[in-house]
Amino acid sequence: MAQQTLEVLQSTDLKPKPDSSELAFGKYFTDHMFMMDYAADKGWQRPRIVPYQPLTMDPSAMVFHYGQTVFEGLKAYRMSDGDIRLFRPEENFKRMNHSSERLSIPPIDEDLMLDYLKELVKLEKEWIPTEPGTSLYIRPMIISTEESLNVAPSNTYTFMIILSPVGSFYKEGINPVGIFVEDEYTRAAPGGTGNAKTAGNYCAAYKAQERATANNKAQVLWLDAIEKKYIEEVGSMNVFFKIDGEIHTPVLNGSILEGITRKSVIELLEHLEMPVQERQISMDEVIAAHEAGTLQEVFGTGTAAVISPVGSLQYKDQDYVVNNGKMGETAKQLYETLIGIQTGRLKDPFGWTVMLEA
Ligand code: COI
Repeated sequence: MAQQTLEVLQSTDLKPKPDSSELAFGKYFTDHMFMMDYAADKGWQRPRIVPYQPLTMDPSAMVFHYGQTVFEGLKAYRMSDGDIRLFRPEENFKRMNHSSERLSIPPIDEDLMLDYLKELVKLEKEWIPTEPGTSLYIRPMIISTEESLNVAPSNTYTFMIILSPVGSFYKEGINPVGIFVEDEYTRAAPGGTGNAKTAGNYCAAYKAQERATANNKAQVLWLDAIEKKYIEEVGSMNVFFKIDGEIHTPVLNGSILEGITRKSVIELLEHLEMPVQERQISMDEVIAAHEAGTLQEVFGTGTAAVISPVGSLQYKDQDYVVNNGKMGETAKQLYETLIGIQTGRLKDPFGWTVMLEA
């Protein structure tokens, strides 16, 4: 897509900004959003920043019926000195194109989208909270808009970016969460859409999430769809296990989401010369390690959650407490290092952060 002039229509009715203590996750949205449209005969066109607003859509728009849509999640951080940083944004647009490819959605120009995103974040910089544990969550998404009940890829799409100042993803904050190991429902099968970031993967998980909630657990841990034996991922995070001094995480097998925080944690562990392995991990093995006293830590990684320690695993009606229900030293070190790099408090030896000029 050739560079097109970015139209900017500023809102004249700015909203009051919430107090940092009120934020939680995805509850408030900023004053502006980015939009761009696609038509098969014109390509992506009309990039624009407009006041945040509801959409008017025909009830026959394809996204409502067949769910042809993808989304992303990334964060911007602002230091009290005013510096603004995005964390690995190019990885998100790359993954978005990967998801789009799976959902037969036309690709976006990754570099151009990053330029537009920077303009939007700069315009909304006063919305980026600066309290520790807060950030501006960025949600790019593409929806299919053709007005038709035809079961086929849409000929028209809208790409949008909305922004939400956020606090902690879990009500537990950085405290350990309980996880329910789901052995009836499955999330994704080989050849399916498991490694695409698409809406259907998330709503198909609600039924299992209800079981987790009924058991007082924050999220579901998914097992593989064939044998229901091997660990895949947690509801909105990838998952890591520290067993006998070594860190292990399920290897990407096509049905696991390729988390950017997951990738960063692996790179960080390698940089710190801490042993890390990507491999197939069975639930039986984790239970055996727990019984042998070698399961030292479990933690999840994700953009929204960052690093979230797991304090207990419920599997087949048994509750297995991990590290006395406390955050482990590795999760703590990773959390502090990652947040330090993301916010600019620590040096970024990897070139992960993208600074925005004010
Ligand atoms: C993220 O971590 O950004 C996610 O997309 C997970 C969830 C909020 C859907």
